[in-house]
Amino acid sequence: MSDPTRPKGPKIIAVANQKGGVGKTTTAINVAAALVELGKTVLIVDIDPQGNASTGLGIDPDARARTTYDLILGDAPLSDILVKTKSERLYIAPSTTDLSSADIEMVANERRSFLLHDALRQPAIDAYAFDFVLIDCPPALSLLTVNAMVAAHSVLVPLQSEFFALEGLSQLMLTIRELRQTANPTLRIEGVVLTMADRRNNLSQQVENDARAYLGDLVFQTVIPRNVRVSEAPSYAMPVLDYDPNSRGAEAYRALALEMLEPKVPVGA
Ligand SMILES: Nc1ncnc2c1ncn2[C@@H]1O[C@H](COP(=O)(O)OP(=O)(O)OP(=O)(O)O)[C@@H](O)[C@H]1O
Ligand SMILES: [Mg+2]
Repeated sequence: MSDPTRPKGPKIIAVANQKGGVGKTTTAINVAAALVELGKTVLIVDIDPQGNASTGLGIDPDARARTTYDLILGDAPLSDILVKTKSERLYIAPSTTDLSSADIEMVANERRSFLLHDALRQPAIDAYAFDFVLIDCPPALSLLTVNAMVAAHSVLVPLQSEFFALEGLSQLMLTIRELRQTANPTLRIEGVVLTMADRRNNLSQQVENDARAYLGDLVFQTVIPRNVRVSEAPSYAMPVLDYDPNSRGAEAYRALALEMLEPKVPVGA
């Protein structure tokens, strides 16, 4: 955790994959919950107009007076929009469908790619002493996702263990490479995590083998299994770690968080 090269303040991780329904929101919520269990203070920033992370953590749409829409467009500071969830040390900056028009409104701004970056570096954030900020991205390589990747230190990529999983990944990697050459030279790939895996299923195993063959050490050792408790948890407005702490899904997300906290051996060392 004590990475001397990292600037002071929280580690900011964008959870991104332009493919829909691959487990971005589930991963953001449950990695956050696992980090909280490890004593960290965590903020989830929901920048998906679907607002699934907000709903999945029990934030009533009516209670979302100020949202990431206001944050990104500079109409409200982070301190005005973040809400504490039922879990200790877990906060969320919620979103609503309002955000679907943000892309268009952002384009006119000269700093359009840096709006979230700037919003997350407001001094007020220091008061919360967040250790981690996880940004739940929408399923598109849109300006919102670009904002997340410009704001972030790293990108965590959930990859669904299904046919065509690797398709589209090259586009995501290309975007990351482009951002490294322009707006965010130090952007890293936190890792690729296989989600909804069924190791008894040949196809699922094949996707894992292919991902490890193509992406090597970028793929986390931890694989998130398909587990019905994981999919039930959001309707009870809580992470699976709270809903069913001993489920296979909860255990897997704990293992993933621990793996994320391991010091990385520098490439070439
Ligand atoms: N490990 C799992 N086991 C079972 N169901 C899962 C698992 N992970 C995710 N799901 C379910 O799969 C669906 C898609 O997951 P999720 O919403 O996290 O994906 P997403 O990438 O955020 O989707 P979108 O692109 O729409 O934002 C949800 O219904 C979720 O509950
Ligand atoms: Mg989602």
